[in-house]
Amino acid sequence: MRKRIIAGNWKMHKTAQEAKQFTEEVLPNIPLSEKVEAIVCPPALYLENLVEMAKESKLSIGAQTMHEAKEGAFTGEVSPAMLASIGVKHVVLGHSERREYYNETDASVNAKTKAAFENGLTPIVCVGETLEERESDATVKVVSDQVTKAFADVSAEDTKQAVIAYEPIWAIGTGKTATAEDANEVCGAIRNTIENLYGADVANAVRIQYGGSVNPNNIEELLSMEHIDGALVGGASLEPASFLKLVEAGA
Ligand code: G3H
Repeated sequence: MRKRIIAGNWKMHKTAQEAKQFTEEVLPNIPLSEKVEAIVCPPALYLENLVEMAKESKLSIGAQTMHEAKEGAFTGEVSPAMLASIGVKHVVLGHSERREYYNETDASVNAKTKAAFENGLTPIVCVGETLEERESDATVKVVSDQVTKAFADVSAEDTKQAVIAYEPIWAIGTGKTATAEDANEVCGAIRNTIENLYGADVANAVRIQYGGSVNPNNIEELLSMEHIDGALVGGASLEPASFLKLVEAGA
């Protein structure tokens, strides 16, 4: 059985005080169930503080992005070693907003995925198609290509530990969710891609999230699907009560 994984991606939201208040409200109420892992990904500025607040709890704190290099002249960036040094364990990579606004490519996502593993971080690798690609029936090809490129030269052992988030771009922040069946079909195709690359053992272990307008009303149906092991949630992860409902649905 794969452990479910619910991750809240705050994107560029919340002041330091709001981040602290959210964490104080959520921490005592995180379900103790072994069936689900709960992660919050705040802006990098708050990572260290929230890691400290959440230590000894069932809540993990993850980063929203990172650079692939260990260190260097990359103004404004944060390295994998820096994240690891403050106790961060997860990092979202290749989110479509990073690909669209910050020129991240399949090659840079691959470099970041490798760097994450080298530094003991679990990557949450995001893939997903545009509306145009979906309408031209290219979804499975696009997503399989992204997965193949993201995991190029990553060992089977590392890939087994990875999390892949399938996020159709047209469903992000739009209120439009893929139907649970459609989302499951693409998540199944991702698992199939991993099986072709690494075999059934790795494919059965890798966890695949769905993301795109997930909320407390649609999460249960999504989680009931064979290939959907969790969710990467933006808007509905920002309020403590809503985030807790999402985690409880996985418990
Ligand atoms: O990382 C999260 C996704 O981009 C989904 O965002 O739940 O606001 O649609 P959303």
